[in-house]
Amino acid sequence: MNDSTPRVISVSSGKGGVGKTFVSVHLAAQAARMGKKVLLIDADLGLANVDVMLGLHTGGSIRNLLADDAALEDLIVHCERGFDVLPGGSGIYELTNLNVTEQQTILDTLRDAGKDYDLILIDTAAGIGDNVLYFASAAETAVVVLTPDPTSLTDAYALIKVLSQQRDVHRFMVIINQTDEIDGHITFKRLLSVADRYLDVYLDYIGFIPQHPSVRQAIQQQRLLTDSDSAVGPHLNRLFNTLLSRPRDHSRSGGLQFFWERSLSSTLDEIPAEAAQGASS
Ligand SMILES: Nc1ncnc2c1ncn2[C@@H]1O[C@H](COP(=O)(O)OP(=O)(O)OP(=O)(O)O)[C@@H](O)[C@H]1O
Ligand SMILES: [Mg+2]
Repeated sequence: MNDSTPRVISVSSGKGGVGKTFVSVHLAAQAARMGKKVLLIDADLGLANVDVMLGLHTGGSIRNLLADDAALEDLIVHCERGFDVLPGGSGIYELTNLNVTEQQTILDTLRDAGKDYDLILIDTAAGIGDNVLYFASAAETAVVVLTPDPTSLTDAYALIKVLSQQRDVHRFMVIINQTDEIDGHITFKRLLSVADRYLDVYLDYIGFIPQHPSVRQAIQQQRLLTDSDSAVGPHLNRLFNTLLSRPRDHSRSGGLQFFWERSLSSTLDEIPAEAAQGASS
């Protein structure tokens, strides 16, 4: 694999509200601090809130890319913490289920934009909907966030199962949020034992994030945590250093173009041939 192609990392979860957006924005900030040029895509389309968490003023969203042929550079917002954001659009029902033509438009746009970035981060919606499967399988690395709650654990397993069996994604990075070191390990072991037994997957435990009131406080103030807020800031730095220093996934070689097209072709496999032909012509 050519390391000059941008690394594409998706952040997903089975259950909602487990901390995906919190992880995504802080991971983006950490990579930017390490000197990487980062684009964070808010792919929780229809219920997007990266912009809200960061207190950004947006002029448009992915919707304008699809509906108005807007240029990507007119939609991207630069965050003061040193990375770019492509807003996802909120309250727009049509975005919750992209059709194949819309997926192709996003693919083309991001493939062009990819050359300007070292890292593309995709904050997806929760669950196993089409958009989630599309974005998560388009990435080189799929990160799954969960908490120790049994419902979060079973939903994370369901997401991993569907991605592996339907989208050929077999390697996952796992982050357990709102926990401590011991419960984080116990939760990961539970996920691993059932995944090892029933699925053909490799799970890489990146680590845990402590539960702390400073997280909620920072989100309420629409700002990112800093090292001086609480122990969570430095903890996140270490966690994301671990994640970013993992070697790139050579089994999914080919770079951004490969991943997006691979994702699109698995979508095309699921629709009638004539419709697929029409959509791609
Ligand atoms: N480590 C933590 N400590 C304390 N509270 C946390 C922590 N992580 C997340 N939270 C709380 O959980 C809420 C949800 O976080 P976030 O919006 O990142 O989740 P999400 O997975 O992106 O949700 P959605 O599925 O709706 O997109 C936050 O507003 C915050 O209050
Ligand atoms: Mg979110």
